Amino acid sequence: MNKAHVLTGITTTGTPHLGNYVGAIRPAIAASKNPQVMPFYFLADYHALIKCQEPERVKQSSLEIAATWLALGLDTSNAIFYRQSDVPEILELSWMLSCVTAKGLMNRAHAYKAAVAENEQDESTDPDKGITMGLFSYPVLMAADILMFKANQVPVGKDQIQHIEMARDIAARFNHIYGEHFVLPEAVVEANGATLLGLDGRKMSKSYNNTIPLFEPEKKLKKQINKIKTNSLEPGEPKDPDTCTLFSTYQAFATPGEVAHIRQRYAEGIGWGEMKTILFEHINEHIAPARELYEALLQAPEHIETQLQEGAKKARDLSMPFMQELRAAVGISKISKY
Ligand code: TRP
Repeated sequence: MNKAHVLTGITTTGTPHLGNYVGAIRPAIAASKNPQVMPFYFLADYHALIKCQEPERVKQSSLEIAATWLALGLDTSNAIFYRQSDVPEILELSWMLSCVTAKGLMNRAHAYKAAVAENEQDESTDPDKGITMGLFSYPVLMAADILMFKANQVPVGKDQIQHIEMARDIAARFNHIYGEHFVLPEAVVEANGATLLGLDGRKMSKSYNNTIPLFEPEKKLKKQINKIKTNSLEPGEPKDPDTCTLFSTYQAFATPGEVAHIRQRYAEGIGWGEMKTILFEHINEHIAPARELYEALLQAPEHIETQLQEGAKKARDLSMPFMQELRAAVGISKISKY
C-alpha cells in the first residue's frame, strides 16, 4: 500500500508557545511515528519573509523551531523534516503555479482581504497600502509547498483551510491544462489537538499577546502560570472546573485519572494559589526533559543543521525528478546538471 503523504509547514516567526504545542506540535509528533504515513514537516522560512524583514530574527526563529521539534522527539527516520529554502524547486513551482492562478482567486484570500479592509477604514489611503506581492501571493507559495510533495492530507488550523482549498483549485487548473501531475490535497483540522486558553482566558494566541512560551525557564514558567486569570472565590469555596482556565490547561497535560482527582479538589474548594502550584509542577515535569534537550541543541546548532540537511536531501530526492517532469510538461528544458 502507498503511504498517505501528510504535510504541514511552520512559519518561522516567533517562539512556540504552549498553545502551539498542545494544538499542533504534539499531535504532529505523535503522527510522525505512525508507519502508515509519510510525514513531511518543514520550516516555512520563505513564508517568514512576508511578515518579518529582520534577518537575525528569521534565522534565530528557524533554529529555535527546529530545535523545538527535535527536542520533543520528532521521528526523523520516518518523517521528512526540512527547511523550505533548502528545496529550491518549491520556488520554481511557485512561479509555474502563479501562471495558472487567477488573480481573482487571490483577491479573495483572507489575509489579503483583511489588510485591504483595514486600509479602507481610512478613505484617503490607497487600499493596497503596505501590501507586498509576497503577502498577495502567499497562497501560491503555500500551494507549491503542498503540491510539490503530493500531499494527500494537510493538518492545519481553521484559519488555513481556505489556503488548502486554493491549492486544490490551482492543482486542478494545472492538471486540466498540462495533464494529471498533481494530487489534490485535503485539509485536516486537528481533532487530537486541544485549544489552550491564554493568560486572559481567551484562546492562547500570539495576536492576543497572552501566550506562555513552551520552553520558558522554570522560574519564568512559574511566574507566567501565576498570572493566569481566575475569579475571586476564596479557598474553601467550591469552584467550577469547567469555566476555569487553570483546569482546562491542566487537562491538556494530564491523564483522565489525574483530571478526575483535580475535579474533586475543585468541588472541595481548592484555593487558586495551590492550584497554580499544582499546574506549574505538572507542566514543568512534563516539559523539563525536552527543555533540557532543547537548550543543549541550541548550544550545538550544528546538530540541528545536520538533521535539516538530511531532511533536505530526502526532500530533494523527490522534488528534483518531479521538477524535471513538470518542466517537460510546461515546455521548458530540463536542467542537465541533475
Ligand atoms: N501558512 C501556514 C501558517 O501560517 C504555514 C504553511 C506554509 C503551511 N506552507 C504550508 C501549512 C503548507 C501547511 C502546508 O500556519
